[in-house]
Amino acid sequence: MKSISPIIWNGLSLELLDQRLLPEVERYVHCHTFDDVKKCIEKMVVRGAPAIGVTAVFALLLTARKYLQSFAGPTEKHKFFFSRFQSHLETHGAILKKTRPTAVNLAWGVERILNKSRNLKKASPLEIIEGLEEEAKIIFDEDIEINQKIGEQGAKLIGDHYTILTHCNAGALATAGYGTALGVIRSAFRQGKKIMVYVDETRPFLQGSRLTAWELQKEGIPFSLIVDSAAGYYISKKDVDCIIVGADRIAANGDVANKIGTYSLAVLAKENDVPFYVAAPLSTVDMSIDSGKKITIEERDAEEITKFRELTLAPVGINAKNPAFDITPAKLITALITECGIIKLPDQNKMIDLYNKRGEHS
Ligand code: MRU
Repeated sequence: MKSISPIIWNGLSLELLDQRLLPEVERYVHCHTFDDVKKCIEKMVVRGAPAIGVTAVFALLLTARKYLQSFAGPTEKHKFFFSRFQSHLETHGAILKKTRPTAVNLAWGVERILNKSRNLKKASPLEIIEGLEEEAKIIFDEDIEINQKIGEQGAKLIGDHYTILTHCNAGALATAGYGTALGVIRSAFRQGKKIMVYVDETRPFLQGSRLTAWELQKEGIPFSLIVDSAAGYYISKKDVDCIIVGADRIAANGDVANKIGTYSLAVLAKENDVPFYVAAPLSTVDMSIDSGKKITIEERDAEEITKFRELTLAPVGINAKNPAFDITPAKLITALITECGIIKLPDQNKMIDLYNKRGEHS
């Protein structure tokens, strides 16, 4: 089966599958500059926490390459050249971090490149470009491997004939490939388990109906699309065996920021005794934040609610609010599925333990 490739680095430029046009049109946007990539992140050409983390890495590579190629260096002392270059990269990293403030993978990807660059301070401009490109490719490959590990771990929680509910899109499109929450579903299906998925449409950007449904259809996984407000109906009828979602940021106490509507699902799960799972890589864990209450929630343009493409959905000029994410407290989470294993009932101690063990699994 042909895999889904939302991000392609062709050695010169970055090609991003335009997720705003799916499912009707499969078209790539070609990004030649840092600004091209930044715009694509802001406009949701590419979205999903791990995917924007990986994309940010290539944005920095593009600006580094442009800077170093135009460097008139031989007359300058290398030390001064390098500190100016590093501060150029840091400034651009800071710009990227602000584009989508909730998804911590963006900041994580930026830091990986800045660290790599620091380690290259004695290298020539050409060696720096090569070193950063190598790191970017490693980050890309690692993301897919990590997703596959999350899939393997998570599939242990999925029984034969399970009905699973998912929200938003935490699939191949939201990562470098394969997916986190949808990766678990994919792995269970590939193991031969007969599963069925309820897909929340996920207003207002419709990541569920446009993107998750597209991915499941391509893979041949049985599913039914439902409106977000139908989730409670099916959960209360005991039609759902478990709920699996992804995450944009996980605080040190296990609280999870994810697509708006996730918290309501977790409350519904608790009320109806249905397991609620969050699947995410460790790059989504932010140990510098001790509680979900401190996570910045991105507010997006109200037009995403009042209009869809050219269609007007509400009276012109009204007020509308569009928080893109909400916080699910750790106490509502049955288990966190990561590449390093499954953490049941996550709390601060278990998160510290998990974080300390991360090196053993890489
Ligand atoms: O606004 P989006 O589409 O970037 O939000 C994406 C989500 O909320 C996903 O559930 C999350 O990033 C996990 S993706 C593997």
